[in-house]
Amino acid sequence: METAWKAGLEDVIAARSAICQVDGAAGKLYYRGYEIGEVAGAIPFEDVTALLWHGELPSPAASAQFASRLETARGLPAAVADLLRTLPRDSHPLDALRTAVSLAATGDPDVRSSDPEANLRKAFRLMTLVPETVAAWQRIRTGRTPVAASASVSHAAYFLELLEGRAPSREVARVLDLVLTLHADHELNASTFAARVGVATLTDLHAAIVAAIATLKGPRHGGANEDVLAMLLEIGDPARAESYVEARLGARAGLSKHERGDPRVRVPGFGHRVYRVDDARARVLRGMAKSMAEATGRQKLFEVAERVSDAMRARTTLPVNVDFFSAVVYDALGIPPDFCTSIFAVGRVAGWCAHALEQFADNRLIRPRAEYVGAAPRSLAADQRRRTETSMASSSKS
Ligand SMILES: CC(C)(COP(=O)(O)OP(=O)(O)OC[C@H]1O[C@@H](n2cnc3c(N)ncnc32)[C@H](O)[C@@H]1OP(=O)(O)O)[C@@H](O)C(=O)NCCC(=O)NCCS
Repeated sequence: METAWKAGLEDVIAARSAICQVDGAAGKLYYRGYEIGEVAGAIPFEDVTALLWHGELPSPAASAQFASRLETARGLPAAVADLLRTLPRDSHPLDALRTAVSLAATGDPDVRSSDPEANLRKAFRLMTLVPETVAAWQRIRTGRTPVAASASVSHAAYFLELLEGRAPSREVARVLDLVLTLHADHELNASTFAARVGVATLTDLHAAIVAAIATLKGPRHGGANEDVLAMLLEIGDPARAESYVEARLGARAGLSKHERGDPRVRVPGFGHRVYRVDDARARVLRGMAKSMAEATGRQKLFEVAERVSDAMRARTTLPVNVDFFSAVVYDALGIPPDFCTSIFAVGRVAGWCAHALEQFADNRLIRPRAEYVGAAPRSLAADQRRRTETSMASSSKS
């Protein structure tokens, strides 16, 4: 064995990628070399996606062409809409999304081809399929009918219109555009890694995205988003925040390492495998959360979040992560807790596709080794003989 095992592959370099760089010590994130704080809000999410997929900012003509390809890909396949109507209403939105993408694969005209052009066509379709499914499912599970949306609006506005059934204000569309940009990519996070592992077997792009969605759902990853909003709503009053954190962290005393891994004795929205300090996205999201909360009269929830953050800072060195203040932004947008991770997926599908395309372009099967810690080689025949002898001896005694 060449390398030593590291739990959770911590700090292990498992791919070479030119898409996204994370500087955990400085709390910085770069998309193709551009710092996220500079990118977010300065260019639309469509251009961010083009940058992630193609490596450079698109020219005005290329940007228009990219947006038009996204627009052409719009339209929820009828089979997917039918499928969503048959799902139990209490299905988790990410389960609905995963199932929908799986079904869409079977009807995709390029399902049997993974050549670069076919993959690009599929990537455009997936970029629109995800928000369309997320919005349709939210409407269906709340007893409403999916609606169509205006043509020639931004990706963010298109999604919001599908969700609400009316065109969003410019300000709300701008906020969502920024949120999507902040979530668009994050190097080898667990869901992106799952997608790359899938692609490396030369499975198809839809299959890789299904693996990514399945992985995003977990509370250690995107699922933390919904846990944060549920927690903040449960606390409800800023005055209760400190005692809540105290109790949740206090509940860890006396637990084993394994028990301390339970999400119920962690404070969601804190801690990160790579960042040692609060990251740039969390800083941008805090500012957005504050102004959105003020604009929508949800300051109390923002205040709860601030108090939780202060209490965590006083007791731990864990950084605030992207899921913490984004939950406050989602609340101000009227998004319920169990829907937060779906918004994450609407943004992250851009990064999943970028990484999948990169993996397809220069692929080798991803197949690491395990450090074997089980029983030493032993003889089945000898063990069976021993078992037979033992049972014969005990039955002759009785
Ligand atoms: C993100 C996360 C999964 C990173 O995990 P990791 O790098 O494997 O770190 P570990 O799970 O080994 O945690 C290291 C220590 O910090 C503690 N810790 C990490 N995050 C914590 C949190 N949010 N609340 C309380 N304690 C936390 C762990 O319990 C562990 O302490 P222990 O050894 O005494 O048990 C982890 O920080 C977490 O579970 N955070 C909450 C969920 C979340 O916000 N996820 C979204 C990530 S963007």
